[in-house]
Amino acid sequence: MPGRVYITRPIPGTGPDQIARVAEVATAPLDEPMEAGALRDALRRADPTAVICMLHDKIDASIFDMIPQCRLVANYAVGFNNIDVAEASRRGIVVTNTPGVLTEATADLTWTLILAVARLVVAGDAVMRAEAFPGWGPNYMLGGDVSRQTLGLVGPGRIATAVAQRAQGFRMPILYHGRRDRPELDALGGRRVDLDILLAESDFVSLHVPLTPATNHLIDARAIGLMKPTAYLINTSRGPVIDEAALVKALQAKRIAGAGLDVYEREPLLAAGLAGCENAVLLPHLGSATFRTRDEMSDLVAANVLAMLEGRRPESLVNPEVWPAGEAAPRPT
Ligand code: DGY
Repeated sequence: MPGRVYITRPIPGTGPDQIARVAEVATAPLDEPMEAGALRDALRRADPTAVICMLHDKIDASIFDMIPQCRLVANYAVGFNNIDVAEASRRGIVVTNTPGVLTEATADLTWTLILAVARLVVAGDAVMRAEAFPGWGPNYMLGGDVSRQTLGLVGPGRIATAVAQRAQGFRMPILYHGRRDRPELDALGGRRVDLDILLAESDFVSLHVPLTPATNHLIDARAIGLMKPTAYLINTSRGPVIDEAALVKALQAKRIAGAGLDVYEREPLLAAGLAGCENAVLLPHLGSATFRTRDEMSDLVAANVLAMLEGRRPESLVNPEVWPAGEAAPRPT
């Protein structure tokens, strides 16, 4: 099935060229997020069979109305909270994401935040650049321990498991919270517990849940209030999982020891006061930002699009109900 593919922002890797061998590919010219109206206009003009979109593109009914030929929305991200999947399914539109290929990079970045916030890496670097190092001192810039501390993983998926694998080297006891036992985490010594117990017993609470109505503000003032005053909160999942205003208050009051954040509630904006919290390490959504990972995301997004265009069921289907295994490709409604 020949088709037209629209990519909402230039992506690295060879994915677009792979698709261009069988379909017409157009890419938005600017390497920046398109505002909602511009995105709608660009898509209406492109009238694509498949759209490759970014995590900052809100893909909802108003977009689907503009692209009646569309059979596939392929997210260039593992998280797909930017897409109204229920609406896509109602219209028979397939949605895919990029799971697996960014697991290791995101777990590495989670560990970057754990070590950076506990061991005052950013503050230490700032001291040196300001040429303000007074010399070694027995009480100078003491941070939190990492080795043998308890790691609490909220959401026991692939990335949490990769974070737990790295924690073996630090000999950390592992708690995790999820709906069911996760053998991969159990094999690493993990113990499944209620969220409140995890919050109360962990020295590092690391968030790895998808953003859904149930996880929106999962970590609110009450949840933060359960954490130890010496504990750290780490987030490489999605910003709105934390009530950022409540976190700022807790950080300002030193209610917890610190936070390491890669994602934000109103990304790319920060909650008022967060930038002034010296006990927070703040990164600009870099979880999957390595050369190889972004190339592999490009390959996977291309594989998803090519499968769809060639009448094969894409591997990383987000809404399998639209295309049950063994059945023919869905017809858009
Ligand atoms: C994703 O793919 O969902 C990540 O947040 C990108 O870094």
